[in-house]
Amino acid sequence: MTTATLERATPPKIRQTRLLINNEWVDPVDGGSFETLNPATGETIAHVAAGTAADIDRAVKAARRALTSGPWSRMDAADRGRLLFKLADLVEAHAQELAVLESVNCGKTITDSVGDMQGVVNTLRYYAGWADKIEGKTVPVRGNFLSYTLRQPVGVVGQIIPWNFPLLMLAWKWGPALACGNTIVMKPAEQTPLTALRLGELAIEAGFPPGVVNLINGYGETAGAALVVHPDVDKIAFTGHVDTAKIIQKAAADTLKRTTFELGGKSPNVIFADANLEDAVAGAFHAIYFHGGQCCTAGSRLFVEDAIHQEFVERLAEKAKQRRVGDPLDARTEQGPQVSQEQLDKILGYVKVGEQQGATLLTGGERVGQKGYFVSPTIFDNVRDEMTIARDEIFGPVVSVLPFKAFDEVAERANRTFYGLAAAVWTKNIDKAHTFAKLVQAGTVWVNCYHVVDTTTPFGGFKMSGQGRENGEAALDHYTETKTVTIKLS
Ligand code: NAI
Ligand code: MG
Repeated sequence: MTTATLERATPPKIRQTRLLINNEWVDPVDGGSFETLNPATGETIAHVAAGTAADIDRAVKAARRALTSGPWSRMDAADRGRLLFKLADLVEAHAQELAVLESVNCGKTITDSVGDMQGVVNTLRYYAGWADKIEGKTVPVRGNFLSYTLRQPVGVVGQIIPWNFPLLMLAWKWGPALACGNTIVMKPAEQTPLTALRLGELAIEAGFPPGVVNLINGYGETAGAALVVHPDVDKIAFTGHVDTAKIIQKAAADTLKRTTFELGGKSPNVIFADANLEDAVAGAFHAIYFHGGQCCTAGSRLFVEDAIHQEFVERLAEKAKQRRVGDPLDARTEQGPQVSQEQLDKILGYVKVGEQQGATLLTGGERVGQKGYFVSPTIFDNVRDEMTIARDEIFGPVVSVLPFKAFDEVAERANRTFYGLAAAVWTKNIDKAHTFAKLVQAGTVWVNCYHVVDTTTPFGGFKMSGQGRENGEAALDHYTETKTVTIKLS
């Protein structure tokens, strides 16, 4: 599929809105539902079943049964891999339909949704390949014993995901969990429940046995919180806001659940005067405006060396004014709406604060149109480190430009945040690039590029941007328990 053939694609029919428990589509115990909207219009797409604690309990029981009895518990690792390969093939075969559905529910441009679907396929295939390669060790212990380790699934895992990359976040969490033999109860974001439901259908079609993947849509404070405190859930994997992660970590303490977190950021993007200016402008632009800034790795603190500062911001502003903001289903659109009224209000609130605190609003800062949740690409210049817009995650198309003079200064200022997800540096000087990469506190560092995320490399945060790593081999550590077996030899 190419985006050119997708010019204003027709929104797909909504096939499934219920809860998925034990491979059956069921109504929630209390019969509740919530509206899911199209952020480009603010109109309702569908009413989706809202799960509560009683539904979480049913799903956890199904996941536990699948883990301890039934075909999944006895399945060869290679066959788990085959199921994941099958699911990847099904996603690939339905990529166009899924991409349109993602754009309609989440507001991302169809071009970005098509990219996400490729990421989903890549992720599922990558972890499918791992399934029969997760090995223990034999260990040379003292004495006449044979000791070896087994790497076994953690158990029933609760996965809570956000709305900015709905299906890609699902794949990042399903892939390693299933490769390692866990069973899953997932709570998708209440803003974007639809593509996960479609994946539930495809998982059944791929042949995953009952109870292996369960989907409970609903609100964080009800369904999500119930998953976190459930005594029979072994682990919580969460992506979302830092404050939510704090609530989850506290709530998970009572049952000492394993937790992994992938949280926000305020990522420094550092442009040295010796960079290729053309590439750096394009890169800084992509760093902040990709998916309307609704990206945990968004390059929202743009440090620009004094010598090129003026020219740099002029070129950036020129590009920002030309960005095509509009209907996400139009293949020519470069930026869709923000996901919700709540996000729109939050972003415009930060614009006000930026102006009040004395930053220079170069361009943007306004709602676009009266329908939907569109925001114009926004640049604040002459921002200082202590300003709110340089500290808080705005999660919108708002960049803070922070001028700097010297390497040591910027290396220190880049780390002046409690976040540590990503960072980038633009320079032709190899010493500067590697030294910055070493000094910056971030789980991912890009040199002369931005937002290059591949399923094969570990992804996660230093400091309050997270705990643990997703993607790559690293994710497998968080979905396995290591067991030591020692045998007395006579
Ligand atoms: P959130 O952290 O509240 O939501 C993420 C997920 O957590 C959703 O599925 C939600 O239902 C669930 N959740 C919420 N409260 C919960 C609780 N008490 N227990 C269990 N699960 C709970 O994020 P929200 O409100 O959607 O967005 C607010 C801000 O969070 C954004 O403006 C952005 O700054 C940040 N964010 C960061 C993301 C990232 O990729 N790191 C993704 C989405 C949001
Ligand atoms: Mg929230």
